[in-house]
Amino acid sequence: MKKLIILCAAAMVLAACNNQPKSMENQAINNIMTRVSVRNFTGEKISDEQIETLLRAGMAAPSAINKQPWAFVVIKDEAILAKLGEALPYSRCSNKPAIAIIPCGDLSKAIPGEMAGFWINDVSAATENILLAAHAMGLGAVWTGLHPDMNRAKMVQEMLGMPEHIIPLCIVPVGIPAENPDVKDKFNTDNIHYNAW
Ligand SMILES: Cc1cc2nc3c(=O)[nH]c(=O)nc-3n(C[C@H](O)[C@H](O)[C@H](O)COP(=O)(O)O)c2cc1C
Repeated sequence: MKKLIILCAAAMVLAACNNQPKSMENQAINNIMTRVSVRNFTGEKISDEQIETLLRAGMAAPSAINKQPWAFVVIKDEAILAKLGEALPYSRCSNKPAIAIIPCGDLSKAIPGEMAGFWINDVSAATENILLAAHAMGLGAVWTGLHPDMNRAKMVQEMLGMPEHIIPLCIVPVGIPAENPDVKDKFNTDNIHYNAW
């Protein structure tokens, strides 16, 4: 009887695995599907090597005409993290992240003229790469918005002494997770249109 129960349980686990889309077996796809925003951290530090990997991931992003119109400000100093957290509570910088990365648009490197606004897409792509890399490395992170709220963006520009052509897009606190939020299933076929609306 005991053997039969174990066999049934094993069959159920196998059946559940078979229901998973084949693509979920791929590590990179699984990493995308299981990323969540992490907003609370343990306060433990992360290594410079880990920070470099996050920045390399950011700069591996695609950008319009490959302009790479970005700059990344890394905040390691606890006093500055605390100051950011106090001024911008939604940025989660007071929740004990190890660091915060501030992906910025560098308008001096952006496409000139009407297409300049593509920097927002480029720096967004870099930000998502950082979030995915953090998750793959067992770290937690969350995108917290600045631009297009220019009050918030200007506050950060002033606090960190950024020149006018550097526009902070968001603040990404990164650290060892102190929480394990559930993955949200956002797949919705209503959002999909084939060939035409
Ligand atoms: C442009 C943008 C701005 C966001 N701003 C904030 C923010 O200010 N504070 C925050 O805690 N989360 C912020 N988030 C994170 C979202 O709340 C989060 O991505 C969303 O609830 C979906 O959850 P998930 O990331 O766990 O899938 C922001 C995300 C984006 C893309």
